[in-house]
Amino acid sequence: MSVHTQPASDESRLTKRTVQTVASLRRKTEKGQKLVTLTCYDFSTARILDDAGVDLLLVGDSLAMTVLGHPNTLSVTVDEMLHHVKAVSRGARHAFVVADMPFMSYQTGWIEATKNAGRFIQEGGAQAVKLEGASDGVIEVVRHLVEIGIPVVGHLGFTPQMLNTLGGFKVQAKNLDDVKKLLNDAMRLQEAGVFALVLEMVPVEVADLITRQLKIPTIGIGAGNVCDGQILVIDDLLGRYSELSPRFVRRYMDSKALIQQAVTDYAADIQSGNFPDNAVEAFPFPPEGMAELSQLTASLAP
Ligand code: KIV
Repeated sequence: MSVHTQPASDESRLTKRTVQTVASLRRKTEKGQKLVTLTCYDFSTARILDDAGVDLLLVGDSLAMTVLGHPNTLSVTVDEMLHHVKAVSRGARHAFVVADMPFMSYQTGWIEATKNAGRFIQEGGAQAVKLEGASDGVIEVVRHLVEIGIPVVGHLGFTPQMLNTLGGFKVQAKNLDDVKKLLNDAMRLQEAGVFALVLEMVPVEVADLITRQLKIPTIGIGAGNVCDGQILVIDDLLGRYSELSPRFVRRYMDSKALIQQAVTDYAADIQSGNFPDNAVEAFPFPPEGMAELSQLTASLAP
């Protein structure tokens, strides 16, 4: 597995906070510390999550749904993803930034996949990419990316880009044959060089089995607390995306209600003339010109 090292910014040297790398994430797991990871799609959220100490920010293709309003992740493009990867990379000072490779950006062969992954690193400023599945084609892509120094995160279990084949948002690996296939896929991905594996919507016992069998960290979403780390979609955690409500989501705040309240207060303040407060939130005319301005106003009066 290639090990990414990222130059520490001046600020991170001063605060002595770790700038996360493949190696530092692996060390955390080896010490038994859980990886704290979240999706992120914009600069200011990235800065907040980074300051809060999140280890890894995934610019997930879930932004197709949460940011762009599509019903699933299938329609987001490389250029659209890149736009958000750049913003998150600018905001992250310590967190490890992973760009999700969207549908059709890596399924058509390793040459195109390599070019697209390269754009996320070179133009987007990400430190790694994530791919879904473990088909022979995906394994070939992983090998090529790792070989040229692009760290890769795998993603198994419920893989949203296979939505139409899987027939909906469903828990995976619920029988022994599927468990064996999942384990085999996980081992193949590890052998191909992924440095971490997302396990989405699989039974706890299956996530536990796979986590124990792998040397690389597993990051769970809807896979119980047995994984080496957890990931949630940031809009779910903050309670501002309500189109889907999967069982595994825990909402840590109701930001939808808070935002609605703030906007209602804003509207009321505008109507009452309470906003803006001219003494504080506006710009007075320079006092030395006030006499002339008053004359002009008077001369224009009807
Ligand atoms: O796109 C995404 O948000 C993801 C996470 C659910 C892991 O892939």
